Amino acid sequence: MSGPLSIAILGAGNMGGALLGGILKAGVVDKDHVLATTRTEEHANALRDRYGCTVLAGGNCIAAGQASLIVLATKPPVVPKVVDEIRDVLRPDQILVTLAAALPMAVVEKRLRTPMPVFRAMPNIPVVVEEGAIAYCANAQARPEHHLIVDRLFRSVGVVCTVEEELMDAVTALSGSGPAYVYMVIEAFIAGGVKMGLSREVATRLAEQTVLGSAKHVRQSMLHPAILRDEVTTPGGTTIVAIHELERHGLRSMLISAIETATRHAKERSRALAQRLDQSA
Ligand SMILES: NC(=O)c1ccc[n+]([C@@H]2O[C@H](COP(=O)([O-])OP(=O)(O)OC[C@H]3O[C@@H](n4cnc5c(N)ncnc54)[C@H](OP(=O)(O)O)[C@@H]3O)[C@@H](O)[C@H]2O)c1
Repeated sequence: MSGPLSIAILGAGNMGGALLGGILKAGVVDKDHVLATTRTEEHANALRDRYGCTVLAGGNCIAAGQASLIVLATKPPVVPKVVDEIRDVLRPDQILVTLAAALPMAVVEKRLRTPMPVFRAMPNIPVVVEEGAIAYCANAQARPEHHLIVDRLFRSVGVVCTVEEELMDAVTALSGSGPAYVYMVIEAFIAGGVKMGLSREVATRLAEQTVLGSAKHVRQSMLHPAILRDEVTTPGGTTIVAIHELERHGLRSMLISAIETATRHAKERSRALAQRLDQSA
């Protein structure tokens, strides 16, 4: 790959749009080196107004042909159709990144005319505030220089891990869907505060900062969360009473089960989607 990095985001919806906003804010590329596509003109206009970059409704081939790195950000069942649409303009010196949950890389690779570096990444929605959690894997064509580019792209909008593809469903269940669980926790903290008489505004500020600060403390102290929890739990104090209540309702067990069930669901969806695509090929 030569020349400056140029990025095409095909299907700039919730995730593609968040990534677009994040990479522009982080300055990975400027608005002249990023193109996005949507299905509808209405959405393309809204993104153009918001980010000032080129956004084409249905212009996947034009966008893919001009970029050095192409992000497939449509819903998973649409990804194979988009690959079929753009495969004639793809070149081996480009990089293809799929964000689709529950869609094996092999499904994408099988539809390509020519082998090329393919990455399967699972970002999460906080990429929009440059605090995403992103895990990715890559195919055999991906060389170290391709890894560097993809790594740089995602590092600009969050924390990056690499995993084997077989673990991508677990990633989807933990960090891909994870923001939804944390939003529920924040929502419940706010409701608890409001129930006990705090104003909504004060409860919201305290709840969001408690989650943000605790996560930062875990990272910076590099201590196990159980040790940090013990440190704030005074014998006979208020915290242990609340912890007992949380344990009685099975908080940790519930979260472990949620991630286990979501992983299983992602695996089943992945199998079903691959099977359906094989039958229709
Ligand atoms: N949302 C998350 O938190 C999250 C997390 C991790 C991974 N992902 C992955 O990210 C992908 C997108 O999910 P999402 O939640 O962002 O979905 P979404 O909000 O529905 O976005 C999909 C976008 O694709 C566009 N689109 C549909 N068909 C198209 C086509 N043929 N050509 C170009 N654009 C087309 C749609 O355009 P219009 O708006 O004009 O209809 C829409 O903007 C999925 O594969 C998902 O697994 C999402």
